Amino acid sequence: MSLLQSHRDSGAPRDMRASFAADPARSERFSARCDDIQMDYSKCAVNDETLDLLADLASAAKIEARRDSMFAGEPINSTEGRAVLHTALRAGPTADIRVDGENVVPGVHAVLAAMGAFADGVREGSIRGATGKAFTDIVNIGIGGSDLGPVMATLALTPYHDGPRVHFVSNVDGAHIADTLSGLDPETTLMIVASKTFTTIETMTNAETARAFIVAKLGERAVADHFAAVSTALDKVGAFGLAPDRVFGFWDWVGGRYSLWSAIGLPVMIAIGKDAFGEFLAGARAMDEHFRSAPVAQNLPMLLGLIGVWHRLVCHYPSRAIIPYDQRLSRFPAYLQQLDMESNGKSVGIDGEPVETASGPIVWGEPGTNGQHAFFQLLHQGTDVIPVEFMIAANGHEPELAHQHQLLIANCLAQSEALMRGRTGAEARAQLIASGASEAEADRLAPHKTFAGNRPSITLVYDRLTPFALGRLIALYEHRVFVEAQIFGINAFDQWGVELGKELATALLPVVRGESTGGDHDSSTLALAKNIREMRGE
Ligand code: F6P
Repeated sequence: MSLLQSHRDSGAPRDMRASFAADPARSERFSARCDDIQMDYSKCAVNDETLDLLADLASAAKIEARRDSMFAGEPINSTEGRAVLHTALRAGPTADIRVDGENVVPGVHAVLAAMGAFADGVREGSIRGATGKAFTDIVNIGIGGSDLGPVMATLALTPYHDGPRVHFVSNVDGAHIADTLSGLDPETTLMIVASKTFTTIETMTNAETARAFIVAKLGERAVADHFAAVSTALDKVGAFGLAPDRVFGFWDWVGGRYSLWSAIGLPVMIAIGKDAFGEFLAGARAMDEHFRSAPVAQNLPMLLGLIGVWHRLVCHYPSRAIIPYDQRLSRFPAYLQQLDMESNGKSVGIDGEPVETASGPIVWGEPGTNGQHAFFQLLHQGTDVIPVEFMIAANGHEPELAHQHQLLIANCLAQSEALMRGRTGAEARAQLIASGASEAEADRLAPHKTFAGNRPSITLVYDRLTPFALGRLIALYEHRVFVEAQIFGINAFDQWGVELGKELATALLPVVRGESTGGDHDSSTLALAKNIREMRGE
């Protein structure tokens, strides 16, 4: 790391504008491809030496060997003693991937086949509600990894929807389920309760509310017809009263935030059909193969991770912005927040000691062009430098609106160019004079219209947002998180940091209900609870 730091201080490009001027092939040299996906990282302040040093760092962290251990099913999630095998969920049927000596691939394909049969039945109307009506609406009840992936992918693949409408409820705030169910007819609504553990309080509470919605109109006996469940905890699901053919399992070697490829993807499959879902898995598989085989200099997840590390550990940028110029990817930043921040937001290394460097950055974002009219001011002229990751499809799904897509592309490219080029004080002044300002006026306004530039960004271009392309894009980011975790020296696959808040919420419920006035809580928390109770007239 110290070599990279001194390289940043003395050898790395100081001025990207000058680097582009000096090297007409810069974009070509600092781009990599996986089929149609192009990743252009030439607008980051790196040169050949930077990449060599980052490759050395990757090799010192034994990333390739650790990657192979992950794909081979070794228990690399050391704090939970588990394998990490979301990649097995998209492996072909002839693959042989062993956990404790057993090939897990036949089980994966058996669940996919069961999901396919169920999705077909719901879509074709052979699986119906208790009164014989076909399902028009599906409500997925889950949170975190049991929600964010399916929500994101369902929206992203809207042009491929030819099944029933799909809705999502996650928040324990009753407003979420109330607003979702209002307007739905219990007779034509199918609920999917999605929870890896089947204990998550938000999901269990919403599932009971959904059950009451069905029972109020159709009676207790309708529950079996109007519910399905997805979980690794099949014993707990049984208690909910569902028939085995309504329960789709997965395995403890699938992390919640990596579970979209498992039965957690059922609502997506119902929306787009099992063939398109198969394409989605194939896209992820293509990225897995690329990650396993491409040399570092051509390897997209490796490069994305190494540039991420460069920005985080060497340039000390605390956050990164994810800006898809694709409205249908508007939930992609939220999905990546869990994927990245729940994986790499750790301050203890895999060895149990405090980490020696920073770890995962803050990840945030919104789609372009909307973000341009909200927070891009800070990206261009704020006092913090925030690397941006742009995404854009060459082709939209609306040929009749191709002129709008051209405008979208122009905006995306313009933003990365503006961040890199900036505008000097002299240029700002000259522009003001050219537009008729007096010398004094130009002097006064030029500092406000100056852009420092030299602000890094990566641009990912792909042909079209198909199921295959989406699968590839998500897998790219999954593997990027893995690469960064190896350099941070942390376990990316546990999430103990979410536990404390859950425990305290359980302990506070009696206080909020007025069943207890004290307990081991601080005075601020108790006073807030008391005040809220008073406002509620309790
Ligand atoms: O928030 C913590 C977490 O465990 C996530 O990792 C997970 O995706 C989410 O809760 C939901 O968990 P479950 O699928 O078990 O309901």
